[in-house]
Amino acid sequence: MVIEKICCLGAGYVGGPTCSVIALKCPDITVTVCDKSEDRIKQWNSDKLPIYEPGLDDVVKTCRGRNLFFSTDIAKGIQEADLIFISVNTPTKIVGNGKGRAADLKYVESAARMIADLATSNKIVVEKSTVPVKAAEIIMKILRANTKPGVDYQILSNPEFLAEGTAIVDLIEADRVLIGGEETPEGQKAIQELCWVYEHWIPAKNILTTNTWSSELSKLAANAFLAQRISSINSLTAVCEATGADVAEVAKAVGRDSRIGPKFLEASIGFGGSCFQKDILNLIYLSECLHLPEVAAYWQQVLSLNEFQKTRFTRKVIESLFNTVTDKNIAILGFSFKKNTGDTRESPAIHVSKTLLDEGAKLHIYDPKVEPEQIYYELTGTYVKTEHENIKKCVEIHDTAYSAVTGAHAIVLCTEWDEFKELNFNKIYEVMMKPAYLFDGRKILDHEALQRIGFHVQTIGKRLARTGSIRAQGSLTMP
Ligand code: UDX
Ligand code: ADP
Repeated sequence: MVIEKICCLGAGYVGGPTCSVIALKCPDITVTVCDKSEDRIKQWNSDKLPIYEPGLDDVVKTCRGRNLFFSTDIAKGIQEADLIFISVNTPTKIVGNGKGRAADLKYVESAARMIADLATSNKIVVEKSTVPVKAAEIIMKILRANTKPGVDYQILSNPEFLAEGTAIVDLIEADRVLIGGEETPEGQKAIQELCWVYEHWIPAKNILTTNTWSSELSKLAANAFLAQRISSINSLTAVCEATGADVAEVAKAVGRDSRIGPKFLEASIGFGGSCFQKDILNLIYLSECLHLPEVAAYWQQVLSLNEFQKTRFTRKVIESLFNTVTDKNIAILGFSFKKNTGDTRESPAIHVSKTLLDEGAKLHIYDPKVEPEQIYYELTGTYVKTEHENIKKCVEIHDTAYSAVTGAHAIVLCTEWDEFKELNFNKIYEVMMKPAYLFDGRKILDHEALQRIGFHVQTIGKRLARTGSIRAQGSLTMP
């Protein structure tokens, strides 16, 4: 089989960028990204794409209408395709067996059933969503129990390692592509077909092939290892604050060991995003099911530490503000889970904001890319407009950072957007209530300069020499 047509089920953060780059790099392949949400597809076909990702607009503009199509016609997409990516959402279960830990595979299952219903020719079905180990088996069972004459399925696991905010670069210059399949001749042939697609731009030496389960487990393991590094460095922030060590200096010294390396040692208010927590929960659930409580407890600690870090930071904010934030105006700078994305899933800003709201604060939130509706959704748990109206009494969303901080008792910086480093903090100090507090949850600002302006500054993993308040004359060095 030569792959001429690819269909992707799910036009989300994974399916959209991945297939756009495949279309860019494989002009000989027609790529159709399908979603059951009409609204999402409409946005993919418009000038304002449903997700913000640096470089994505250009890739889509180059390929859309040429060999890249976005469609709600799932039946046509499936029937015409030689290869189908399943890139649907896999949230953590909120009810029933394994709730709060196991992944809810209902969307994966429904995608597999759709393929079984609609396919009339051989298909390679590729699991791309982040899934628990053995999810491919579910797809296999559904497809093979419903095989029609003349239709054969090969099921591959091809986890995606892109990180949001750098997705296009991660896809174009991938460290590695991982493809898992069955050890049968047909399985190996399917692996080679998918390798051929990636070899349009990825050097063959960077394409790893394994059995299906190794591929699935490797994805969970990679995310668990990355999250573990963040929890490791975050655990030391509390020690640094108590002892006078500086976590940035510790991270630098530790990261210089070539066996450890410098990446993912950036202390923060905790990790967020759609993958880390979900994948570790999957790993914990798998370990429990395999009767490995020690393994489960080991990975649970990475998550517990993350919760501790978010709580510790928020507690510090409240305690510094004389242990009460009732009716105080707090400016929240940044709401996405990291810079360069509008994604808010598991963002630490949600935890911080909700806790401050519970304590009676009035929040003034600014984020360069997150839509107001999304912020209200995260704070209320619903898209119902009347709920949003209620919360608007204590949450105001602003168009600029300057507007958010005007009249604020404190600034809480939750996301490391570059533009926050460029703010004119002299101007900001003037328009804030005094004493003016600033909590830098990402360690991106010049704390000494802020203190010279007069701010009371607190950050993560570093005890500042003094906490501001006395405005030093002639030393306003911030822009
Ligand atoms: C992650 C993995 O990096 C990616 O390979 C996988 O495919 C999906 O999950 P993503 O969640 O998009 O990607 O972003 P990532 O850059 O990993 O950041 C995750 C969270 O960790 C963010 O909240 C980020 O701010 C935080 N982080 C990251 C830190 O707190 N410190 C660091 O040193 C790095
Ligand atoms: P991810 O971050 O994993 O890409 P998203 O939630 O951003 O997850 O995107 C998943 C997309 O999959 C959603 O747009 C959802 O509407 C879509 N989806 C879910 N089930 C199906 C299905 N059976 N067929 C097509 N699209 C689906």
